Parts: sequence; C-alpha cells; structure tokens
Amino acid sequence: MDQADRGRLPAGFRKLDAAARREALRGAFAIPEEEWAGISCTAEQLELVDVMVESSVGCLPFPLGVAQGFLIDGEEVLVPLAVEEPSVVTAASYAAHLVRDDGGFTTWASEPLMTAQIFLESVSARGEESLKGCGADLRAALEAPLASLAARGGGFRSFTVNRLPSGVVKVDLVIDVRDALGANRLNTAAEGVRPLLERASGGRSLMAILSNASSQRLAGARFSIPVDRLAHGLPAGMSAGEAARRVAAASVIAQEDPSRAVTHNKGIMNGIASLALATMNDTRAVEAAAHLWAARDGQYRGLSSFAADGRRLTGEIEMPIALATAGGSVEFHPGARACLRILGNPDARRLSRIAAALGLAQNFAALLALVTHGIQKGHMKYHAARLAYLAGARGADVRRLAGKLSAAGSLDLASARKLLKSL
Ligand code: MEV
Repeated sequence: MDQADRGRLPAGFRKLDAAARREALRGAFAIPEEEWAGISCTAEQLELVDVMVESSVGCLPFPLGVAQGFLIDGEEVLVPLAVEEPSVVTAASYAAHLVRDDGGFTTWASEPLMTAQIFLESVSARGEESLKGCGADLRAALEAPLASLAARGGGFRSFTVNRLPSGVVKVDLVIDVRDALGANRLNTAAEGVRPLLERASGGRSLMAILSNASSQRLAGARFSIPVDRLAHGLPAGMSAGEAARRVAAASVIAQEDPSRAVTHNKGIMNGIASLALATMNDTRAVEAAAHLWAARDGQYRGLSSFAADGRRLTGEIEMPIALATAGGSVEFHPGARACLRILGNPDARRLSRIAAALGLAQNFAALLALVTHGIQKGHMKYHAARLAYLAGARGADVRRLAGKLSAAGSLDLASARKLLKSL
C-alpha cells in the first residue's frame, strides 16, 4: 500500500460483516497488537455493537469506577462512572463523605416532561389562531402513538404555539415520557401530527423533532454542613470558615464570569456525563441541555451555588437532567443494566436526582481543592501512576513506582524508567 492509499478502506467496507470490517481496518492501518487489543472485544460483544452502531469495528473499553459514600435522600447509593479522567471518582467520593454525616444530599425532580417540536412555514395569523384551538384533535391523534406511554402513566400533556422571528410557527408538544428518554416516541408523535397541523394552519411543515432542551425535566440537589467538616487537611493557617467562604466566593465568580462558568460547569458534568455514559444514556443531549440552561437569562453562568454564613456551608444545584432507565441503549446494553443494578435499579426520576447530587458533589470537591491546595496536588498522584505504567510497571509495581515518583517530585518518563530499574 503506497502513501496515497494508506488508510484507505476497501470498497463496500460498510457492507462487510463486522469481523471482516475489523480485518480490513487492521490491514489498512497496520494497527499494532497492543492498540488492536484496545479496540477488541468478544464475538458476542461485537454482535451487540453491530446492532447498536453502523460500520461497527469493535468496542472501546472505557474505564469504569464506582464513587462511594453517597447518602441521597436517606439512601446509600454507589455511583458507577465511566470516565477517562483521573480524580473524578475520588473527588465525588470525597465530597459525598464530607456531607454524609449531616444528612447527605436532599434531592428533587420534576415530572419527566419532554417536548417535541413541529415547525410550520407559510402560516397566516388566522392559521396560527386555529392551531391554538386544535388541542382536542391533537390529543386524539396522539392517543395511538403514545398508548404505551399512557399505560405507564405518561403521555400527551399540553401544547403551545409560537411564531419565531423568521415567521416560522412552532408547535411544542409536551409529553410525559416516564422512564424513557423518549426520543423515538417524541419524534414519531411529532411527525405523526404534521398533516393535522398543516390542515389546521394552512401552512407547510418544515421539520418535526424532539427538543433536547429538557427545560421541564429538571432535577436538583442540596446539602448543608457545618463549616467544621472542612477542617481536615487545610493549608496551614486556613480556618474551616475561611475555606467555606472561599468555596462560596468561587461559586459567585462562576455567576459573574462566563469563561470561569464553563470550567465550573465542566466540573459538574464530569460527574453527570460519566454517570450518563455508564448507564448508556445520551451524554450529548444531557450536555447540550445543561449549557442552554446555564445561559437561560442571556448570560452563561455556573449551574450551582454555594453560600457560607460562618457556621454552615450550603450547596445547591438545579438543572435539566434527562436520563432514562428504560428503552434505548439503557435497557439494551448489558453493561448499562449492570450499572443500573449497582445504582439500586432507580426509576428515571431517581436516576436524575442521583445525577444532580453527583454533579453537586463533583463541583464541591473541585471548588474546595481549587480554593485550598489547588487542583494539581491531587492530579499529580494519578499522573505518576500513568507514568509508572508507561515506563513498564505492572501490578503492584505501578502504585509503588508512582509513590516513589511523587515523593521524588520527578514526574517524567525518563525518571520513571530509571526508578523502575531500581525497584
Ligand atoms: C477538571 O476536570 C474540572 C475542574 O477544572 C472544575 C473546576 O475548575 O471547577 C477542576
């Protein structure tokens, strides 16, 4: 294969079976053994993957950790997190332990309401008015496509009609999706009512699709602890009250400065997106909704807030968290089912409440680290372990070498290789 052909896949690649696609890919890219193992899986897993995504070529095993110490609404919860970043699992567990002796997290969630949108062009003012009167027809038309949702207590709830600045009229259908994400159901419902809405409005449908904004599918969490809980391990000369004050001050900055708010919220999503991935939920949908919510008053702001009054530190978060426990990949993938089992098989609202508590915990741990010792102290420990692994250490030697590297303060590969030889 010459330079120009390098990496080129055979014609009809996507029509090959998954095993043949893998062989073609490996040949085309001369993938070495260790890397190849990194995208390999059993034949059974490959079959599973092949019905989940198109042109499948294997699995990418993601690190899975379990955050411990969470007390959420009086119940102990273990939280599985699929994440490539070190410190995330430890940070969540650390914050969970800090708040558990004071009642842990109190959480809440709205009904699982999602929106499906139909956009109509060429609608006159009269057409717009008659759209507003077609609630009964909509309800009747949605009965069949939403029957299984209705059987579980969900279904069509309400609708709104609004004209956008472009002149397009949008009809938003609000649907209770219970434990599902509801994407397929919402899209089917929205597409199904297009003819009805066209007739009622005299306009033409441009498109119909769910909205991932999920701004009526909110979850929140709160904790309150005496500031003394922070007394352990602070930098010399810093009181617990001062640490709490600094956490609150950091959260105010995230309300004021959008560039800081993005990083603040990234810390929150470290937890929420990792839980979403572990349960095979749609991480992109959860992220997109979170960021729209963060900017809902026109400025992008932190999703959480902290207050310190000298005696107590209180943290709170509320945001859209559309997580499913039924349907889609969540129910389909055995790994997701295992993670839901670890979580105690919550329903969708409970899962979103766990996610809210997790996001708040993650954020609290990050802010506390930032305003006390700084973030790097904790990170470097994990960096040392990666260096030890890269240098060739395996088994117990990884931790041993990492410890020596941290102690020596020499966090580079050459030092790791040298030290490994001396072990
Ligand atoms: C790192 O993944 C997340 C943090 O940057 C979050 C934050 O700065 O608040 C530590």
